[in-house]
Amino acid sequence: MALAENGRGLTGINPMVGAVLVRDGMIIAEGFHEGFGNAHAERQLLEKSDQKISANDILYVNLEPCCHTDKKTPPCAQFIVEKGIKIVVYGLIDPNPNVAGRGIQFLQSHGVEVIGPVLPEECARLNRGFVSVMRNGRPWITLKSAMTVDGRFANASGSPRLMITSEEQDRWSHLFLRARHDAILVGIGTVLADDPELTVRPHPLLRQGFGGQAPAPFSDGGRGEPYRIILDPHFRIPLTARVVNGELAEGTIVVRKEPEDSEEPEEPEEKMRILEKRGVRILTIPLNRDHKILNNGSGYLPAEHSVTFDWQSFWQALTTPSGDFHGISSILVEGGSRTWGAFREAKTVDEEVILVGG
Ligand SMILES: NC(=O)c1ccc[n+]([C@@H]2O[C@H](COP(=O)([O-])OP(=O)(O)OC[C@H]3O[C@@H](n4cnc5c(N)ncnc54)[C@H](OP(=O)(O)O)[C@@H]3O)[C@@H](O)[C@H]2O)c1
Repeated sequence: MALAENGRGLTGINPMVGAVLVRDGMIIAEGFHEGFGNAHAERQLLEKSDQKISANDILYVNLEPCCHTDKKTPPCAQFIVEKGIKIVVYGLIDPNPNVAGRGIQFLQSHGVEVIGPVLPEECARLNRGFVSVMRNGRPWITLKSAMTVDGRFANASGSPRLMITSEEQDRWSHLFLRARHDAILVGIGTVLADDPELTVRPHPLLRQGFGGQAPAPFSDGGRGEPYRIILDPHFRIPLTARVVNGELAEGTIVVRKEPEDSEEPEEPEEKMRILEKRGVRILTIPLNRDHKILNNGSGYLPAEHSVTFDWQSFWQALTTPSGDFHGISSILVEGGSRTWGAFREAKTVDEEVILVGG
């Protein structure tokens, strides 16, 4: 599982997978899935290793070896059999409906002893993004908020930003929340109010792999940062916003609604052109006018700001790889209150973290 972590931020909607080959209780070869479209962990290990496989060698892998052929790389189960591996221990049955136990059956029917699933909960937790995409058709959603001890989340509109969390809490949430998700998401209200950067601030622990607890996420060869997603149906984002400037622009995705006939076409088009030139990705998603955004439980918003994107179309766009975009399997929703309300109302929150400070 620690080896699998090396692929964090690189595998897109694919799982993070690590594999080790053990002989007489010693690891003699290891491999991991290095990124979307690259060799799977088992193949990587077996191709790289110059060891002659003996009958007692055990292959350990955190996910059932694949058996389907409609993908970029050939099936691992077949390769394992061809290489002469006789014992496989796996952590989790693959939730991909194209595999779902067939990899195990293939191995067993070719005389391989298969043991597992040995750590299904831990392995599902590691790959919660992939499991969610497979089971729910959408990324894993963690909702994060910070509130003061007296229950405030923000200052009144127009007032200076309410600083809530301590430096230590910020460091923790950068290391264990932001750096552990494929994307950080906020509503346009937060961009207009706070002009955040939505980055994982460089910290020595990231480079040292969390002090030995896990390898560094988004490490060499990765994009370096999770994506930034801005929900902005009315395309209000200022060209001066930090998330669409400098090197941040390339990792930012602005989600807007389809333009309507009544709108002035020129201004948004010019803005789109400028943003796209900077490397910002613009997703156009239809609205679902039947769905209303709750204002954090305190009532519905005025009609012009109460509609949500059509969730189905939104998930589809985020989980469909295209070109150098390999899909997003986990999102940290950072706010503000309207955005939290929309995700809660749609019952798409898998985990919620509240930091209490100030
Ligand atoms: N304490 C914390 O943890 C925390 C974290 C972040 C922000 N904040 C604070 O929260 C305040 C901003 O919160 P806010 O509630 O005013 O704004 P917000 O949640 O940042 O943005 C709300 C707007 O985003 C768009 N939006 C959100 N979800 C959508 C969905 N599912 N579909 C379509 N559009 C969606 C809508 O844009 P339109 O209005 O264009 O329709 C909506 O009105 C700021 O003061 C900020 O400092 C606090």
